[in-house]
Amino acid sequence: MKLFWILSALAAVTLLQAEEINEKWETNENCNACHMDISKRWETSRHANSHFSKNDLFKKSLEYMVRKNPTLILDEMKVECAKCHNPRITKKTVEEKDKYLLLMGIEENKQEMQKVLNTENMKNGINCVVCHNIDEIHLDKSKGSEGMNSVKFGEQGTMFGPFDDADSPYHKTAQRAHFSSDDPTLCFVCHHSASNKHGVEVYATGKEYDVSGSAEGCRDCHMSGKFEGFASNYSKNGGTPKPRMVREHRFASVDNSNIMIEYIDVKSSTRKGKFILTITNKSPHFIPTGYGLREIILHVDYFDKADKKVGEARKVLAAKWLDAKGEETIPHLATSKAKDTRLAGTTTQDYLFDVPQGANYAKYTFSYRLISEKMAKTIGVTDPFFLKEYIFSERRIHLD
Ligand code: HEC
Ligand code: HEC
Ligand code: HEC
Ligand code: HEC
Ligand code: HEC
Repeated sequence: MKLFWILSALAAVTLLQAEEINEKWETNENCNACHMDISKRWETSRHANSHFSKNDLFKKSLEYMVRKNPTLILDEMKVECAKCHNPRITKKTVEEKDKYLLLMGIEENKQEMQKVLNTENMKNGINCVVCHNIDEIHLDKSKGSEGMNSVKFGEQGTMFGPFDDADSPYHKTAQRAHFSSDDPTLCFVCHHSASNKHGVEVYATGKEYDVSGSAEGCRDCHMSGKFEGFASNYSKNGGTPKPRMVREHRFASVDNSNIMIEYIDVKSSTRKGKFILTITNKSPHFIPTGYGLREIILHVDYFDKADKKVGEARKVLAAKWLDAKGEETIPHLATSKAKDTRLAGTTTQDYLFDVPQGANYAKYTFSYRLISEKMAKTIGVTDPFFLKEYIFSERRIHLD
């Protein structure tokens, strides 16, 4: 009996603990000497900001969840979210006994937890050693994305990549299909779909992609097309490095690229007293996709011949999330989704606006918010990065 307990305790430890990352691989700075361009590009991406210490919206969301629901423990939530936001965390779950100790505020446990949650590796976000140490992917789409739980990491010091003949003096290399083929499996480890505790689906980019029937993958748009360059600016035997077909590590988002302009068309027209904005979504997923409080805003101001404003209107492409009391909340706490006006992948839609009396011309703006103004205020986001409205086009159109 005693042996049984010891064995199951050992099994629990190996299941719940993962290996800490060696300091040779822990941040992108370890790679700068030979992969500087890649590293600098990656730094501009949201992947570099996925730790709560670098992301006001993520941090405030966690705090809001605990405020709204006092049975939740902040550190436990941080571990839970780390599955995708910081998948090299060494703890997979917080055990019952640790929860009590944390709730009781035992200093030793609190400090231990702070160490687990704030390693240099984790603060570095979804970094090189997160993706390039993924040996195998076991994605069960019916369960959705499970981050670290849908992958098997390889031996530390082996970098998996797209090439079968890479040779590096600093680390071992090996080719894996999830890098050499264009299919989106690697991205789906975290971006396929996920539901909250109430079974409400809060992210569904991969599901949207599957429904669209597209086969283009994610990289052409979110990294770049392939071009001839170098995988490393250093070659093992001195001399010039071997030319390679590579992509940019930009993980393009609304704020670090022009994907909104490249892949979303906006056209205006007038018909029977209506002003019409026609939006073509060339991406294979909804716009906006991903995090559930993003908004695309179509705003129209009308002016008369004397340039006096005579009216305005707006339509918002977004989802609304409700709690059990029917109040607006964040996706992760929602018991239902009330409204969803996001535009499906590879579709075109007309948005009709009434033209007020006396209007001579319209001025429209096409813009984006990372979080709705109202919910930003509710959860207390203060970083201007998230409060800003990103404007992509602004046009003045004569009405006839
Ligand atoms: C280990 C999990 C994980 C993997 C694998 C992953 N991502 Fe991400 N990705 C995230 C998380 C978490 C964020 C949000 C980071 C933040 O803003 O705090 C994110 C953000 C992004 C964003 C920016 C979205 C925004 O908020 O503006 C893009 C674009 C993106 N990922 C594309 C990709 C692509 C393409 C791949 C596959 C090559 C990929 N990701 C692989 C977890 C992952
Ligand atoms: C979100 C996952 C992800 C992260 C994070 C990431 N990579 Fe990559 N990396 C990829 C993918 C996917 C490819 C394959 C691109 C292709 O299709 O050719 C790749 C390719 C490479 C290559 C081969 C050359 C090329 O451009 O194809 C190198 C070298 C590389 N990555 C290094 C790094 C370094 C260094 C970092 C950290 C600064 C990093 N990667 C971060 C996903 C990632
Ligand atoms: C001392 C130089 C050096 C350092 C430091 C270095 N690399 Fe490399 N790496 C190389 C060379 C050289 C290659 C092979 C390039 C080629 O064959 O075109 C390479 C190849 C790669 C590949 C492609 C592997 C494949 O099989 O496709 C990845 C991924 C990679 N490195 C990731 C990293 C990461 C992540 C770090 C930091 C933790 C890092 N490297 C640090 C020199 C280095
Ligand atoms: C044809 C180009 C295209 C392809 C292919 C594409 N996307 Fe996108 N993606 C976009 C555009 C445009 C946006 C900006 C609008 C939005 O937020 O939905 C975007 C936004 C995103 C965002 C949210 C960015 C943010 O700021 O919140 C994520 C996450 C994302 N894409 C992931 C993916 C994944 C994963 C795939 C592959 C399954 C993929 N995308 C394929 C064009 C593309
Ligand atoms: C199944 C993987 C997964 C889990 C688990 C997960 N997330 Fe995310 N999260 C993502 C991805 C992927 C993105 C990027 C999508 C996008 O930006 O459009 C993201 C983005 C976010 C963002 C937007 C960040 C930004 O910079 O704009 C917030 C906030 C967020 N998640 C909160 C949470 C919280 C809180 C938890 C835990 C309760 C959590 N997430 C758990 C995958 C996950």
